[in-house]
Amino acid sequence: MDALENILNRVSARALSDPHPSKEEMDIVYKAALRAPDHAWLRTSSFIEVKNKGLDKLSKVFEDFAKEDKNVSADIIEKYKNAPYRAPMIVILVNSYKEHPKVPAIEQKLSTATAAQNIMLALNAMKYSCIWRTGKLAFNKSVQANLNLEDHQEILGYLYIGTESGEKKKIPNLDIDDFVSYL
Ligand SMILES: Cc1cc2nc3c(=O)[nH]c(=O)nc-3n(C[C@H](O)[C@H](O)[C@H](O)COP(=O)(O)O)c2cc1C
Repeated sequence: MDALENILNRVSARALSDPHPSKEEMDIVYKAALRAPDHAWLRTSSFIEVKNKGLDKLSKVFEDFAKEDKNVSADIIEKYKNAPYRAPMIVILVNSYKEHPKVPAIEQKLSTATAAQNIMLALNAMKYSCIWRTGKLAFNKSVQANLNLEDHQEILGYLYIGTESGEKKKIPNLDIDDFVSYL
């Protein structure tokens, strides 16, 4: 696919199902992720791939988090428990903060965000779809601990990945003049 066409036509997917990318395809996707801009090459981005039985483990982590609220309803517990099954594959975006005199935490997180965009574009080029989700399950110390992450590590989101099973969203027709000014 033409590189510009790939960028201009990327959309997030509402409904995702199999097939999901193969190991060989994901190796390329992670290579694309690791070409994200990264001040001082600190390499603070990493990725946890979740599929098959991993989805069951993530479901348990989400369920345990929901149950931490003693007043939680059965519906909410069910919602959190089912969340991982909205796609056949999830990539959890992790940033592991490193102390550096010139690179503050925000720049390190921005680098992981650009890695996420590289992942989404690489997947789009391979005709897969995804959506970046956060909600209460990201930036969440309890979920992070249950995934064996350490205090300096943070979940910036979840990329739900697969093949679009619904109708592809229409690309909004935005006027660039509303967003760009010239000095
Ligand atoms: C950091 C971040 C977090 C997001 N979290 C959610 C979320 O929790 N739930 C959701 O439905 N969309 C979330 N979105 C928005 C979708 O990923 C998507 O960008 C949005 O639906 C617009 O669709 P588009 O990417 O096709 O323009 C998030 C986006 C970003 C950048």
